[in-house]
Amino acid sequence: MYTSPKTSLSSQLLRWYETHGRTLPWRETRDAYRILVSEVMLQQTQVSRVLGFYDRWMETFPNWNELAKATNAEVITMWAGLGYNRRGLMLRDIARSVAKNSEPTTEDGWRILKGIGPYTAAALAVFANHKRTMPVDTNIRRVLGRLLLAKPFSQLDDDERIRRKSIDLMKSSRKFWEIPQALFDLATIVCKKTPSCAECPLRKQCPMAEKFIAGRVRIPKAAIKKAKETIQVGKSHPDRIYRGRILRLVRENPRIKESAVGGRIDPSYNSVNDAQWVRAMIDRMIADGMIERDRSTLHLSKGQ
Ligand code: ADE
Repeated sequence: MYTSPKTSLSSQLLRWYETHGRTLPWRETRDAYRILVSEVMLQQTQVSRVLGFYDRWMETFPNWNELAKATNAEVITMWAGLGYNRRGLMLRDIARSVAKNSEPTTEDGWRILKGIGPYTAAALAVFANHKRTMPVDTNIRRVLGRLLLAKPFSQLDDDERIRRKSIDLMKSSRKFWEIPQALFDLATIVCKKTPSCAECPLRKQCPMAEKFIAGRVRIPKAAIKKAKETIQVGKSHPDRIYRGRILRLVRENPRIKESAVGGRIDPSYNSVNDAQWVRAMIDRMIADGMIERDRSTLHLSKGQ
């Protein structure tokens, strides 16, 4: 039987996925709520760490309606340890919108919700709604950039071409929604920054494989730019780390004095030089709805 190169590409990928793919709870469902929770958690945390958080979250907030009812403090407590706490609150706000209106069924429909970007909308559309669309994250960008564009390290502005070309890849596949899942795993196991092309199920069709195997591709030190982080002069960590410490402190010490915070989050804290810096971080966390100030003490946000 004749198979076009693209058909065999996707069927070979899916055959590899059957034996090498990871079994993950959010792959066993088409429930958009569960898929969204997993995708938001996976944006910032490794799969192995997400597993525990995901199970606990689902026990507490099993669906849109239960999450919609949660207060800021409940959400922040459940999200604790995942980082980027605003994402937990954003998820709750999306749940409120879905519970009040209705659950979208298309990529454009998902995009309307505040906090859902192009990647997440595509992930929901393909995994929950079984629409032929490719969620392009840094991993899928790397794999499909090599496979479809012959670029060893694609950049953000290649995404549109990657998306267009990958529709072809999904066209004739019966279980096309498994293709992105297979690509996540291929990216993690084989098609890493420095790829193991000799082990790749697609090496015969990949325009980059031979070059990588022959050592003719220079691996850049930083292929992917890290997000810019604010770092206070003289401090050893980005502010995000100190904000995480503040949140934990407030969670574990209800009504802690604001004046005690600096010394508790930073061993090198100096009340003359650093008070304004700590105050600004606290102000931002209040503005984000994480914590509240009551005269001179702080507590987790009771609001909403
Ligand atoms: N990263 C983002 N989405 C993922 C998924 N569904 N499985 C594994 N890794 C992912």
